[in-house]
Amino acid sequence: MKAKPILKSPWEIEILRKANRIVMEILVSLKEAVKPGVNTYEFEEMALNLCEKKKVKPAFKGYRGYPYALCVSLNEEIVHGMPRKDRILAEGDIVSFDFGVIYEGYVGDAALTVGVGKISETAEKLLRVTEEALYRGIDKARIGNRVGDISFAIQSYVEKFGYNVIRSFVGHGIGRNLHEPPEVPNFGKPGRGPKLEAGVVLAIEPMVSAGSYEVQILEDGWTAVTKDRSLSAHFEHSVVITPNGPEILSML
Ligand code: MF3
Ligand code: CO
Repeated sequence: MKAKPILKSPWEIEILRKANRIVMEILVSLKEAVKPGVNTYEFEEMALNLCEKKKVKPAFKGYRGYPYALCVSLNEEIVHGMPRKDRILAEGDIVSFDFGVIYEGYVGDAALTVGVGKISETAEKLLRVTEEALYRGIDKARIGNRVGDISFAIQSYVEKFGYNVIRSFVGHGIGRNLHEPPEVPNFGKPGRGPKLEAGVVLAIEPMVSAGSYEVQILEDGWTAVTKDRSLSAHFEHSVVITPNGPEILSML
C-alpha cells in the first residue's frame, strides 16, 4: 500500500501515450453510440472490434477472472458492471465505461461517464463534479508533491457538494501491469503518501456517490453498487508526471 512508484523512461512513456490514446479513441466511439434502446453488450462488441482494428489486446478480459473487455456501470452501479444483452439503456440513465488495452506490452486505462438522452439536473451535476474532481487531482500530480495531495484535492472538492468519494476502490500506478504501486485513493491528507517524481505514471480515477460511499457487490461477484442505491459517476485518466507538470496520456 505504501509501495513506491515504478519510474518509467521516456521510451516507455511514449508507448504508454499510444496505449492510452487508443483507449480514449475507443471510449469516444462508445460514447458516441450511447442512446436509449442500446443494450450494454453492444458496447462490449464495439470495444472488441475496435481492439482488433487497432491491433491491441483488451486489458481487463481475464484480469483476475473478469470475463469481459469492458466495464459498463449504470446509475447506482459504481464500477465493474458487466456487459449484458438484457440490460437496455433508457433515457435519463447515466452510464460509465471503464476500458483498458495492452499495446506493445504496456497498459492504457481510462474511464468516463455520460448521460443517455436527457438526464436530470442532479445527474448532470454529479457528472460535472466528478470530472472536475479528476482534473483537480491531476493538477496535483507534480514533482515534489505526494499521492495524498492528489487524494485530498479530489475528496475536498467532491465533499463541498455534499457528495462522497468511494473508499473501497482506488486509482493506481500503471505500466507493464494494469495495477502497479502506488495506490491512489480518492480520499486522504495533503503531504502524505509516496513522493511524486518525473516518470511516475498514475491512473487517477475518482468514483463519486451522490449519497453514501458504502459499497455492495452484487450476486454476479463483480458489479459494485452504492449500498443506498444513490447515483454514482466515474472518470479516469492515466497521467505522467513531467518537469513541466502533469501530462494526460489518455487525452486525444
Ligand atoms: N479501471 C479499472 C481499474 O483500474 C478496471 C479494472 S476492471 C477489471 O481497476 F476487470 F479488470 F478488474
Ligand atoms: Co484504473
